[in-house]
Amino acid sequence: MCGIVGYVGQQSALDVVMAGLGRLEYRGYDSAGVALVVDGKLATEKRAGKLANLQAALAEHPLGASGTGIGHTRWATHGAPNDRNAHPHVDCTRSVAVIHNGIIENFAALRAELEGRGHELVSDTDTETVAHLLEEEYPRSGNDLAEAMRRVSRRLDGAFTLLATHVDAPDVVVGARRNSPLVVGLGQGENFLASDVAAFIEHTRDALELGQDQVVELRSDSVVVTGFDGSPAEVREFHVDWDVSAAEKGGYDYFMLKEIAEQPAAIADTLLGRLESDGRLRLDEMRLSDDELREIDKIIIVACGTAFHAGLIAKYAIEHWTRIPCEVELSSEFRYRDPVLTRTTLVVAITQSGETMDTLMALRHAREQRARVLAICNTNGSTIPRESDAVLYTHAGPEVAVASTKGFLTQIVACYLVALYLGQIRGTKFGDEITSVVRDLRDMPDKVASVLETMEPVRALARELRDATSVLFIGRHVGYPIALEGALKLKELAYMHAEGFAAGELKHGPIALIEDGVPVFAVVPAAKGRSVLHDKLVSNLQEIRARGARTVVIAEEGDTAVEPYADQVIWIPSAPSLLQPLLSAIPLQVFACEMASARGHDVDQPRNLAKSVTVE
Ligand code: F6R
Repeated sequence: MCGIVGYVGQQSALDVVMAGLGRLEYRGYDSAGVALVVDGKLATEKRAGKLANLQAALAEHPLGASGTGIGHTRWATHGAPNDRNAHPHVDCTRSVAVIHNGIIENFAALRAELEGRGHELVSDTDTETVAHLLEEEYPRSGNDLAEAMRRVSRRLDGAFTLLATHVDAPDVVVGARRNSPLVVGLGQGENFLASDVAAFIEHTRDALELGQDQVVELRSDSVVVTGFDGSPAEVREFHVDWDVSAAEKGGYDYFMLKEIAEQPAAIADTLLGRLESDGRLRLDEMRLSDDELREIDKIIIVACGTAFHAGLIAKYAIEHWTRIPCEVELSSEFRYRDPVLTRTTLVVAITQSGETMDTLMALRHAREQRARVLAICNTNGSTIPRESDAVLYTHAGPEVAVASTKGFLTQIVACYLVALYLGQIRGTKFGDEITSVVRDLRDMPDKVASVLETMEPVRALARELRDATSVLFIGRHVGYPIALEGALKLKELAYMHAEGFAAGELKHGPIALIEDGVPVFAVVPAAKGRSVLHDKLVSNLQEIRARGARTVVIAEEGDTAVEPYADQVIWIPSAPSLLQPLLSAIPLQVFACEMASARGHDVDQPRNLAKSVTVE
């Protein structure tokens, strides 16, 4: 949440920062602002609303030229999303400008203290306290902005990435990081700071991952990283394996459409290089030994939102293939229920961004209790993989649309690889069985591509149903989490009431919601004869149809048994039951995307949301 960019170099800092903010706007779009040092003075501009408002303001009041600048796009936590609370914030003397991602938990006490010493704070934000603290610490630190930042950081509780620029140090940007993302982009005669590499990918693909509690002093020709105590810090260099085209819309109207279309490649890339010729899986990012994995006697998956739904699906495969009991828990609930964790518990944290605070806190809790943690993550250089015992990266490429699509499908694939690997080393799966499942997985990109080619009727249906007040989703087995996911997508994108149910639960209450014309999507498990659940779901269809529901049935090609109970059938290719979610999710993604657009909403940036949720 909140996007941050800093630049020092020979280019126009404003241009670099604004372009970077454009790529980070998915992280928050309540307001945006920039600060430069121009002719020994701070030049700032900030505006509530999307980046376009800031662009318009800058066109009206140009800031002047500078090679040093910082910029921010905000997802509001403290204070309404207005101009006054937009970042950057400055001190009483307008010497230092600060931008921030995160929450400073002790800001009220700090603010009272600062006001007691005569500082005038003009916003409602927690961030502004930092500008005034820096104002005090800068002279005490011998006019060394990095040292001032270290001193201030030591006084802050909570989560923060901070960037600051000072009129006395026009060729420096200083950053601090605790619990929120910050990466350094390494250029030639220029350097970058950002919440996410997407912000500087057009300039460099070489990056540095900052650790916890570190301060970075950025100049055009140097990057100095220290701990909050001033000691030299270790940092990890990495190379980004995607380029600028991956972070652009590439001719699609929305990032979400592009990302839906990229799903075949995302699945293929996530599978790439994982299978040896002898059927053994290679998960080389696993820093846990096979012996340690053999000891595992319980798996707990922690995740939020769509990633949680991926976890719910993975549970079926994990228990089936490994016979290890598996629980799936919302990250935000996990540590508050005092879960039973031991050295032989494997906690699997699923996260596209690698920065979700609820999941980060859940994994920290797990590690404190000595459990082992495996991250399944799409973002190299992010916090959660760094703090985990092992990582399996999904290779979906950058996901920019706020609603997760390719991230979701690749999370399922990655979880399945982990399950197969565990099955392999524990002897619950033989090499030939693994090869056969991996072969089925390798068929999925083509099948996903063929589903994508048949989506026009789904789009037409969304346009037809655009005035519906409620849409329900039902499924059984792995189709149940897909029903939950279909409902989540519709809620977040189309802002309409939508709920997902286990089809067998309908008769225990939710069936009372069914009345004439209520659209119900039903995900039918494998074709008749291949799953005992098929006929049960068909019975559920009959029950709701008898009560007036308009049924939209997602079923395998050739499953004519569903036709009598369907107002509309969306056909998907046949696949093993556990792999069906990779296909059945797609019509629901497309439906939600089209519904949002038909209702006139911003598909990529739905209201009140942000891509990377770095607050609890
Ligand atoms: C919904 C969506 C969110 C995320 C959730 C977790 O479309 O994208 O529900 O899945 O915020 O995010 P990550 O995977 O980054 O931890």
